[in-house]
Amino acid sequence: RLGLPTKVLGRDIHYEETVDSTQKIAHRLANEDAPEGTIIIAEEQLLGRGRMDRRWHSPKYTGIWMSVILRPNIPPPKAPQLTLITAVAVVQAIEDFTGLSPQIKWPNDILINGKKVTGILTELQADADRITSIIIGIGINVNQKVEEYPEDLRAIATSLSIECDKKLQRADLIKLILQKLEQLYFLYLEKGFYPIKLLWESYAISIGKYITARTITGSIHGKALGITEDGVLKVEDDSGKVHHIYSADIEL
Ligand code: BTN
Repeated sequence: RLGLPTKVLGRDIHYEETVDSTQKIAHRLANEDAPEGTIIIAEEQLLGRGRMDRRWHSPKYTGIWMSVILRPNIPPPKAPQLTLITAVAVVQAIEDFTGLSPQIKWPNDILINGKKVTGILTELQADADRITSIIIGIGINVNQKVEEYPEDLRAIATSLSIECDKKLQRADLIKLILQKLEQLYFLYLEKGFYPIKLLWESYAISIGKYITARTITGSIHGKALGITEDGVLKVEDDSGKVHHIYSADIEL
């Protein structure tokens, strides 16, 4: 047990040495009626999943590979808000824990000094118009050393340990993340998304800048204006048309 300061998050913890993917386990447990706040943590993932069907490299004992089951009573189009809430929680936790200043690249990458340190993957289980559960996967590179990254990744990926130059206690960071996530989740359930949106925008790097959004149907180049109430990115192209981007990779 972690001795958690939370009420809901982590009231049921499944800790595993090696798994395919904590997301996969979370989906199964969610189907078996696991309570809200159930978390799955693994030391290693053999088939870690990233966004857009990518792999997520999850080596043993060095990172935080975790999935959280939430069951908010919200319609499916609002689900991306949970990704943004999680990003804010992780940024706050990393800030408090390391003194570093992470930033968010829409929708869910957390960068330190321009390099990716965390990815968040939100997946849904839903009926026709109701979410039955949201599975939030959080992957954080914590204690990897620079030599452990292949040359081509060193320019774009990093770990907390590389950035703050010391080894970190993963369990303490997990506790802090769950604490921050619960605070923000309760705030969201009580007050709605607006307070979170303001926090999110204060950490976002792309807002106000020219970006290229690569979606499955094509690329859109323009100025990132901000996010909507649902967490959708608004991009204004040169003709003044505003595009709503639901899912994309962003290049700055
Ligand atoms: C991304 O940036 O593409 C998202 C990466 C999400 C990785 C985490 S690690 C824990 C959970 N289990 C998975 O298989 N993926 C997520």
